[in-house]
Amino acid sequence: MTDIKINVQNPDGSIITLEAPTDMGLSLMEFLKGNEYDILATCGGMALCATCHVQVISGIEKLKEISDDEFAMLDTLPNITETSRLSCQLKLANELDNITVKIMGDGL
Ligand code: FES
Repeated sequence: MTDIKINVQNPDGSIITLEAPTDMGLSLMEFLKGNEYDILATCGGMALCATCHVQVISGIEKLKEISDDEFAMLDTLPNITETSRLSCQLKLANELDNITVKIMGDGL
């Protein structure tokens, strides 16, 4: 079993659950883009643009610690939250199973 579940909270508060593969080396950003979510990802996943910003609504405790580079980029945003992450820095892996995220973008 290599699929995990990713829950995406829509702007209206409803939640969609997606099945995500962990064996393709995808980041959460690439996966969400592939599912037609509106993420610019201008930097292509280099932690340099912050347009892939998501708020982790549940499951933040399961994720790897945020890196200094990731935090520094998020810290430039007007809409940063306590549980903000760059989705390009999160690889689809078992620890992401059943997390819930809300797509935030760069808030500009
Ligand atoms: S895609 Fe640019 S920071 Fe994630």
